[in-house]
Amino acid sequence: MATRLYVQEVAVRDGFQIEPAFVPTAKKIALIDELSACGLAKIEVTAFVSPKAVPNLRDAEEVMRGIRRAPGVIYSALVPNVRGAQRALDGGVDEINLVMSASESHNRANVNRSTEESLNGFGEVMQAVQGRDVAVNGSLSTSFGCPFEGAVPTERVLRFVERYLEFGMDGVTLADTTGMAHPGQVRELTHAVLARFPGIDLTLHFHNTRGMGLANVLAGLEAGALRFDASLGGLGGCPFAPGATGNICTEDLVHMLHAMGYVTGVDLDRLLRAARKLPDIVAHEVPGQVAKAGKITDLHPLPATARKESAQS
Ligand code: COA
Ligand code: ZN
Repeated sequence: MATRLYVQEVAVRDGFQIEPAFVPTAKKIALIDELSACGLAKIEVTAFVSPKAVPNLRDAEEVMRGIRRAPGVIYSALVPNVRGAQRALDGGVDEINLVMSASESHNRANVNRSTEESLNGFGEVMQAVQGRDVAVNGSLSTSFGCPFEGAVPTERVLRFVERYLEFGMDGVTLADTTGMAHPGQVRELTHAVLARFPGIDLTLHFHNTRGMGLANVLAGLEAGALRFDASLGGLGGCPFAPGATGNICTEDLVHMLHAMGYVTGVDLDRLLRAARKLPDIVAHEVPGQVAKAGKITDLHPLPATARKESAQS
């Protein structure tokens, strides 16, 4: 039987947070509603962060309130601290996605605290959500390398994953914030995490900053990962990491996975229609390739000249 994979959309959070212009709230809501009909497993709707830090997502409450929820889709939001968790709970998210970085310097740049301070805050969040019908995922940025420090030791990543699981978090995301991961490294780290923590609900979150994004997905798949974050059109990037660029592109990812025979539950044609509207929403071209090139099954009529030649031969 074909393997079922889970595609999780992050364009409206990871993508819109770094757009040069604020995407109007109504357009965010309309896009999320369209994505909700595409069969994605999860949508990261917004981030409950400081509006001074990320002005583009200052409308988090309005967006959460405005969307129409489709059954079966998990609506998640990024949260850095207890204040954000409270806002997310009030907003009725299905999942709180807690974020800190594996490297001290990126954590400082991103959320202005040490990793230990972040973890202390997460402990408070876990208490605040007790008895509430909400899942908690723990994201670990710069798991595959830090733009300020370089390599991040595997043992350090594993230790943070262990802390997340000790807190009772439902899932863990390893994020390659600035596209520093390569397939060999992804295979090793994914193997290491799945071997040390069997049964863990693991997501891989790649950016295509150096063109290794889909290769990294394949390496993760080979090592046993089943969940992948991706961003419509390939938008995305962390405003607090120099040189950050887009996530792997959702429609390119789904196109590749379907071509290989994997099942994702995603309606690729519908997703492509949504992707083709994206340049109008953000007012610039987007990196995604299949929306421009068409699917490998979209064939073209043979030119008249070539038809004559093939008839003669
Ligand atoms: N939501 C809204 N406002 C928040 C908040 C939250 N979750 N957390 C803090 N604030 C507000 C405070 O009330 C305070 O407001 P004021 O200046 O009007 O008094 C201000 O933000 C600073 O609060 P403080 O607790 O001192 O935080 P900080 O300045 O050390 O910043 C973060 C810490 C985590 C709030 C901030 O760095 C942040 O939001 N980072 C987001 C990172 C991000 O989204 N990165 C991209 C994705 S990986
Ligand atoms: Zn990201």
